[in-house]
Amino acid sequence: MEKTFLMVKPDGVQRSLIGEIVSKFEKKGFQLVGAKLMQVSEETAQQHYAEHKGKPFFHELVSFITSGPVFAMVWQGEEVISTARKIMGKTNPKDADPGTIRGDYGVVVSKNIIHGSDSPESAEREIGIFFSEDEIVEYSKLI
Ligand code: CMP
Repeated sequence: MEKTFLMVKPDGVQRSLIGEIVSKFEKKGFQLVGAKLMQVSEETAQQHYAEHKGKPFFHELVSFITSGPVFAMVWQGEEVISTARKIMGKTNPKDADPGTIRGDYGVVVSKNIIHGSDSPESAEREIGIFFSEDEIVEYSKLI
């Protein structure tokens, strides 16, 4: 079953949006298999955002994601990677449709509430950066 890495960023945590965001993915029918509130280190931030190294906003990106706690999650389900990105909305909140997380709660691209993996390769890499194997659970959904 496909897994993805989602992270409520420091702005989402500060604005008390964790519960609402978790609820959206739960109600959709996806399964939460890992979660933790954590402070991202400079090293983890650099690793997570390695593909953006050299871009003009890289420093801002690392400095923002390390500025306060984030809520890191692993979600599981059929086509969860692409579906989660639809639920999140476009990266820049000004282009994100109403009804999506970024469309409803975000204003600027640097503080866009949530991060989600964009491909199976990214999901595997990002889950490995933030979670150890024993922090991810396997359980059957009974309902
Ligand atoms: P995220 O999904 O976490 O992946 C990379 C992040 O870079 C993205 O969300 C945005 O928050 C951020 N980002 C992208 N473009 C810009 C930009 N032009 N200025 C600042 N931040 C940006």
